[in-house]
Amino acid sequence: MEKKELLYEGKAKKVYRTDDPDLYIVDYKDDATAFDGLKKGSISGKGVVNNRMSNLMCQMLQKAGVPTHFVEELSDRETLVKRVKIVPLEVIVRNVAAGSFSKRFGVEEGTVLKCPTLEFCLKDDDLHDPMINGYHILALDLATQNELDVISAYTFQINKIMKEFFLSIGIELVDFKLEFGKLDDGTIILADEISPDTCRLWDSKTHEKLDKDRFRRDLGGVEEAYLEVMKRIGLN
Ligand code: C5P
Repeated sequence: MEKKELLYEGKAKKVYRTDDPDLYIVDYKDDATAFDGLKKGSISGKGVVNNRMSNLMCQMLQKAGVPTHFVEELSDRETLVKRVKIVPLEVIVRNVAAGSFSKRFGVEEGTVLKCPTLEFCLKDDDLHDPMINGYHILALDLATQNELDVISAYTFQINKIMKEFFLSIGIELVDFKLEFGKLDDGTIILADEISPDTCRLWDSKTHEKLDKDRFRRDLGGVEEAYLEVMKRIGLN
C-alpha cells in the first residue's frame, strides 16, 4: 500500500490518499486541542495510544456486527481505513452526567443517568459544533430518517459493548463521541477514533479521570492517564 499525498490535516489526525481510491491512511498526532482550539498543546505518545486503542475497539465492534472503517494497523500511528463521506454530525452518548451536559442542565458531575442519552451536534468549527435535533438534521438534509435510525441503533449498541468492556477493566464509561460515514453504496459505518480524546473514562473505584479532561482542566498526569488506559486494555 503506497502512502500518497496529504488530503486533510485535522487537530489530532492527518489523512493521506493511497494508491487504492477506496482506502485512506490515518496518521494520529500527539497534538491536543480543547475548547474549540483555544487551548493547544501536545500529549507525548497520545497518537500511539489513540491509534492502537481505536483499532482494538473497532475490531471488537466489528466482531459484534457493527461495521467500521478499520482495515489494517500499518504502524503505531498509522492505520488503513475505508474511504467514506463523513455524516457531518458528532454523536454523543452519555451514561453519567459530566462536561457540557452538567453545565447545560445543572446536574452534578458524576450523577448516574437513569438511562443512556444521545445527542447530536453539527460538525462545524466556525459555529462551535452546536447541538442539533433530528428535525433539524432532516430539514437541513444532513441525513435521512433511515440513516439517523441506523446511526442511533449502532450508537446504543456500541455503548453497551464498550460499557461492559471498560467495566471489566475497572473503568467507568462516562460519555463519548462518535462519527459515522457513508460508503459509496450508502452503507453507514463507524468512521472515527475511540480513544481517551473522545471518551470520558473514570477509574471505577476512585473516579480518577483517565482521559482528555486531564489536559482540558490542567489536572496534570495526562500522559500517565493515557498510558494507564492503554495498559488496562492490554496494549503495551
Ligand atoms: O464536552 P461534552 O461534555 O459535550 O463532551 C461529551 C463527550 O464527547 C466527551 O467524552 C468528549 O471527550 C467528547 N467530545 C469529543 N469531541 C468533541 C466534543 C465532545 O470527542 N468535539
